[in-house]
Amino acid sequence: MQSDENRALAGRRILLGVTGGIAAYKTVELVRLLVKSGAEVQVVMSGGASQFVTPMTLQAVSGRPVRQALFDEAHEAAMGHIELARWAELILVAPASASFMARLANGFADNLLSTLCLASAAPLCLAPAMNQQMWQNPATQENASRLLRRGVQLWGPASGDQACGEVGPGRMVEPEALFQQACRHFTSGVLAGVRVLLTAGPTREPIDPVRFIGNRSSGKMGFALARAFVALGAHVELVAGPVVLVTPPGVERVDVETAREMEQAVLDRVASCDIFVGCAAVADYRPEVAADQKIKKDNEQMAIQLVRNNDILAAVAAMPEGPFTVGFAAETQSPEHYAEKKRLAKKVDMIAANLVGAQSGGFERDENALTLLWAGGQAVLPMADKGVLAQQLVTLIAEHYENRHTTKDT
Ligand code: CTP
Repeated sequence: MQSDENRALAGRRILLGVTGGIAAYKTVELVRLLVKSGAEVQVVMSGGASQFVTPMTLQAVSGRPVRQALFDEAHEAAMGHIELARWAELILVAPASASFMARLANGFADNLLSTLCLASAAPLCLAPAMNQQMWQNPATQENASRLLRRGVQLWGPASGDQACGEVGPGRMVEPEALFQQACRHFTSGVLAGVRVLLTAGPTREPIDPVRFIGNRSSGKMGFALARAFVALGAHVELVAGPVVLVTPPGVERVDVETAREMEQAVLDRVASCDIFVGCAAVADYRPEVAADQKIKKDNEQMAIQLVRNNDILAAVAAMPEGPFTVGFAAETQSPEHYAEKKRLAKKVDMIAANLVGAQSGGFERDENALTLLWAGGQAVLPMADKGVLAQQLVTLIAEHYENRHTTKDT
């Protein structure tokens, strides 16, 4: 593994931004790992960063003078900031503070680092680090989701004990893990060559030509997942129920309306896929007959006979030599308990449980919180913008998919 990593980074030009936060001391280790693997690392510090780690330390480990000021004659003469922006093959900001993310989300060019980010065409990755309340603040979540929509990658944050004594999401991902992400970045995405089939959105089950049985799914989570899979290099086909969402770049989309159309679209494509994610809120029942003409209100009461739809996810999971399967469980109570029952009953590899209903995220909302369950383990992904959550979820799916293959192969 070490030798692959070495090859991935040898000669790569990485601009490493450091902003103000206690995690800045860990950046020293990150720079050491990058330099050791042969990367050229140019450190750029924001004003706040030098309160937590000295430029001298980062200069010593990177082997290059650290850049700090936008208008610094000596450095500008050696390599101007536009030249530096062009030099970078990857910009990684670790730690990325809440205020730096806000500055970036708003396009400010008021210090050297934010100017470089604006002026560079290089992929931009942020390792957020801040107090958990700051991370969960709607302002930060909105900034994170704006940045994600523009193609910025968020590596983390991780959850756990914080320097301020609190516990929650906002820790900077550890230097070793950031280093590995950087390696993966230069080996064209962990899911390069992997084919992903996703369902998303609601289904509509016709009662007559103008009425249907539907549900409150917006499709946002499924579309965010499709985008996150593409970002990791996967080939993505998205079978979407009726939603008003723009197709993410690089995604092949198939529009369907009813559960039976969705089932057919999945069965037509599933044989060639490696990972199947059932994110759609598929109607469990459909009217036995859909009237040809609009039903008139002739009677005081009426009954509609419903019949069960096939379970698409369970059918895919039951296929011999089938793909790696991931399901969702939207519950109004005890999500983990019911989700685990569903995982076992449908025999899926992983299931993401979320609470839906009045006070929860989920349906029709931009935010959600999930608990991901698999055989022998689970991970809690706290309330966050669906774009952020999708990246975290897809990273976990990719890890488990890889492990399954490694275990099968050895
Ligand atoms: N699903 C599916 N086909 C169906 C119903 C559900 O593929 N006909 C998938 C969904 O995409 C989701 C998972 O199954 O990944 C769970 O769906 P959910 O509606 O939460 O659970 P059900 O199995 O329908 O159970 P219940 O409605 O009893 O909670």
